[in-house]
Amino acid sequence: MKVICTEKSQLLATNLARALKTSVVEVKYSCFPDGEQYLITGELDDETVIVGSVVDNDALVQLILLIDACEGSDNRLVLPYMAYARQDKRFLPGEPISARAVAQVLSRGVSEIITVDIHEKGVLKYFGKPARNISLARDIGSYIKSLHLSNPLILAPDEGALTFAGHVASAGGWEVDHLEKTRLSGVEVKMAPKQLCAASRSVVIVDDIISTGGTIATASGMLYQQGAKDVFAACVHGVLTGGAYVHLMTAGIRELVCCDTIECGNSRISAAGQIARTIKNADSKEQ
Ligand code: R5P
Repeated sequence: MKVICTEKSQLLATNLARALKTSVVEVKYSCFPDGEQYLITGELDDETVIVGSVVDNDALVQLILLIDACEGSDNRLVLPYMAYARQDKRFLPGEPISARAVAQVLSRGVSEIITVDIHEKGVLKYFGKPARNISLARDIGSYIKSLHLSNPLILAPDEGALTFAGHVASAGGWEVDHLEKTRLSGVEVKMAPKQLCAASRSVVIVDDIISTGGTIATASGMLYQQGAKDVFAACVHGVLTGGAYVHLMTAGIRELVCCDTIECGNSRISAAGQIARTIKNADSKEQ
């Protein structure tokens, strides 16, 4: 078995290969003068773990090309982050089910898909192959433990994220609560006022995705107004679009921690261990 990856998942793929005690196949990526992507892989094995985060449209195309280049091997696809997963249904007539469209394209040429904290588990049914999701909530909990905060409050920005926040909180037996978020637009959210037990406490806001940072910044403002001592933010997928990091720091976030499903300067938690365990367990069950 060998690991291979797109340009956006080099760190995670390397860590995963170490955890699986194998190597990463080198790939040369380039572009034609008209912008079309090109790639060529090194020597493949009979079994390949393809790691490719779909962080943008270019990453999606590169992943489609990489899967095609791996034809002839038994391919498992690790999709650490899946853009378009938030459009998992038709909200208005005439819209695409983008998650379904992307899932179907990526299923061709692979035998199995592993996703990481996919925004909506219902998306798994759109893949044409067996698909499973793993969660890094407990890994985030372990990281928070290493900060040695005294009696922190773990906070989900909306009810939908409460189960995730609960798993984070279980790492330290901490208290967990949630806010009520209404999305006004792609960049604007409204939080219903809620009295929290935040006074003089450290609060860690946890979410699956931080995109513009609007959700966390709004929540942080509310928490400081209620006398929070300091506010931390943790997520799996640090999309951090449009100046999000600066926005969060300006909003008083003491530290932002993300996982390496999207590789950035704040990727302090690796998904590699859990992905490797999932692959090893599946292989031992097959034998
Ligand atoms: C939405 O349901 C997600 O779980 C996140 O809360 C959302 O993507 C965060 O977006 P932003 O950082 O732009 O507020």
